[in-house]
Amino acid sequence: MRISASTVILSLMAAASVTAAPTPVHIEKRGIVLDKLKETFAKALTSLQCGTCVTALVAAKNVAYLNRNWVLDGAESICTKFKIMDKDVCNGLVRSQGPVLVEAAMRASLLSGDGKMICFQILGACPAPAISSGTLSFPKPKPANITVKAASGNRVDVLHISDWHADDQYTVGSDAACNKPLCCRKYADSPLVPGRAAASWGDYNCDAPVKLGQDMLKFVPKVANPSFSILTGDIPPHNVWAETREMVIAEEKAAYSVIASGLTNMYPAVGNHEAAPANLLPTPKTGGDYKWLYEHLADSWAQWLPADAVNSVKDYGAYTASPAPGFRIISLNTNFCYTMNFHLYGALQDYDPFGELKWFISQLQASEDAGERVWVIGHVSPSQTDCIQNWSALYYQVVQRYSPHVIAEQFFGHSHYDEFAISYAPGAKNAQNAILTSWIAPSVTPYTDLNPGFRLYKVDTGNWNVYDSDTYIADLSKAATWDATGATPDWHLEYSAREAYGAHVPIAPDQPLSPGWWHNVTNAFESNNTAFQKYWTYRGKSANRMAECTPNTTCPKEMICDMRAGKSTDTCSQPSFGLQKREDGTEYDEGPLAADVSGIRAVFGVAKKPWNRKLCGLPSI
Ligand SMILES: *[C@@H]1O[C@H](CO)[C@@H](O)[C@H](O)[C@H]1NC(C)=O
Ligand SMILES: *[C@@H]1O[C@H](CO)[C@@H](O)[C@H](O)[C@H]1NC(C)=O
Ligand SMILES: *[C@@H]1O[C@H](CO)[C@@H](O)[C@H](O)[C@H]1NC(C)=O
Ligand SMILES: *[C@@H]1O[C@H](CO)[C@@H](O)[C@H](O)[C@H]1NC(C)=O
Ligand SMILES: *[C@@H]1O[C@H](CO)[C@@H](O)[C@H](O)[C@H]1NC(C)=O
Ligand SMILES: *[C@@H]1O[C@H](CO)[C@@H](O)[C@H](O)[C@H]1NC(C)=O
Repeated sequence: MRISASTVILSLMAAASVTAAPTPVHIEKRGIVLDKLKETFAKALTSLQCGTCVTALVAAKNVAYLNRNWVLDGAESICTKFKIMDKDVCNGLVRSQGPVLVEAAMRASLLSGDGKMICFQILGACPAPAISSGTLSFPKPKPANITVKAASGNRVDVLHISDWHADDQYTVGSDAACNKPLCCRKYADSPLVPGRAAASWGDYNCDAPVKLGQDMLKFVPKVANPSFSILTGDIPPHNVWAETREMVIAEEKAAYSVIASGLTNMYPAVGNHEAAPANLLPTPKTGGDYKWLYEHLADSWAQWLPADAVNSVKDYGAYTASPAPGFRIISLNTNFCYTMNFHLYGALQDYDPFGELKWFISQLQASEDAGERVWVIGHVSPSQTDCIQNWSALYYQVVQRYSPHVIAEQFFGHSHYDEFAISYAPGAKNAQNAILTSWIAPSVTPYTDLNPGFRLYKVDTGNWNVYDSDTYIADLSKAATWDATGATPDWHLEYSAREAYGAHVPIAPDQPLSPGWWHNVTNAFESNNTAFQKYWTYRGKSANRMAECTPNTTCPKEMICDMRAGKSTDTCSQPSFGLQKREDGTEYDEGPLAADVSGIRAVFGVAKKPWNRKLCGLPSI
């Protein structure tokens, strides 16, 4: 039954010459074809299953052979008709994200695995396909007797900021409880009297007003004198359905100049929102223009980076630089594994776009030979579900080859949450085998339901390991009070990881917060719900606006499994984007990813309003 709609379309396709120039016959067929396509889409979205999802993709592809616009017309009308999102958002997303997904579907071998892969990675509608990651070859085998450089006893502060997402259109007094993915802006259809007026310092439904970031930067010198800073991506706001390349470039230039006025020693990385349209970063095998993006980033970052790094950024955004002798930062563009980067699905066999991993390996080999310690920085963490599994598995092999003796630490962002993940040497996942920590820093933006914040690490300049991680926040629930009293945000230490988790897993003052220690912390989470709930509070940056994660659900187990994943294949909270519920009926938490995910919702017409708080299991405001 399920197949019938696509069968009709397939026979229509067979009857139509794919390469023929448009004729009146084609145009007459538009109505019939579109109706059938909409029917297929509707089936796919009402019972989102592997079969219906692949069928919808195949149908879309076949219709696209006749006329690509028809697919977008179909997606748009389904999105609007089912009232999935408001019309502007539907149309904007379908017209900006849709063409890339259609192009990818046309390039992909949908029935020989790519279809299932797309439906798994984007929608969680298919089971995880077995991945064939093969074994990477390295220039030299891992030394049999590795030694990790000793600590020097000299510690410096390093600032980590992520997911800046400043909104230059943020409008004080505008509707903060709007019906779009991003509020606190004036839209043509905004109500005259807002449901809730946006405070001047920000709102849990919105990106950061420019002055919030500025105020944060003013606070940093009061608590630290960072030796250098890292910025793990995502500068523009989340109005993904309405952004143009020109807007993104202007927003970024303005934001980088604000950041540079406070921070001179900065190492940035490319986020998915640096692209326009958002998420869509082409590769040489996918078609699409990317030169502008890296030229623009190289231009913006030239104020911080040495000339050879700036040149490297021009290729595809990755670079390396050495802030201190014996120490190197490698900034990767991990958007080439981002599941919402639809370009990738048109060339899944190109398992290492731009040869980035190959370049990464050559840099790490040079560092090993030179006895350097390395930090990896990037946006999307390869440990998370939204990193395509094959790339993530290949990345993990690199980590196992070059950790713990070369790669000392790695730092990411993207999720907006305060998270971490552990990578292990082959064998059992235990403290002894733990080789590397991924520090996933919380966002500057409060979007959504988070307090704005940043991170300060205490780092030893001999082994370049982290000895403490201090997370700072401002309590945005007081934003209206700040406005009423003329106060400014109450930036303060949320917690020190050494202090908070050291209460459960004691650690000597001369020992770093090592991956083995973090593994023991996950053991404490497993055996002591008080410890886990502490983590859960910090993960949501103490805003206490996340759904509960209580031991009577599978939520804590999934979270702990994810902390020990290191690669997306090993995670337990598989991609689902709220389309599937857990076995116990509770919904997955998709939080700030909602805006990225809304692209696929619009294209596929998936019936869920991600920012509907009740549907997301979030408390009402
Ligand atoms: C494709 O369809 C659109 C309407 O959706 C129409 O404007 C356009 O002319 C068609 N293109 C071709 C090549 O038939
Ligand atoms: C995964 O990566 C390997 C390289 O080791 C490649 O041979 C394989 O085709 C890739 N698989 C997919 C599904 O891309
Ligand atoms: C490994 O290296 C350490 C320090 O360089 C040395 O003391 C030890 O003897 C070496 N062990 C082996 C088995 O080579
Ligand atoms: C982790 O726990 C094990 C078992 O209790 C212990 O032997 C080991 O020293 C601990 N490691 C760290 C770094 O806390
Ligand atoms: C859990 O940790 C807390 C400290 O935060 C401690 O007071 C409590 O005794 C621990 N519970 C168990 C069962 O170990
Ligand atoms: C789990 O327990 C909490 C209280 O700790 C309760 O609010 C919630 O409804 C329970 N959930 C389920 C699925 O039983």
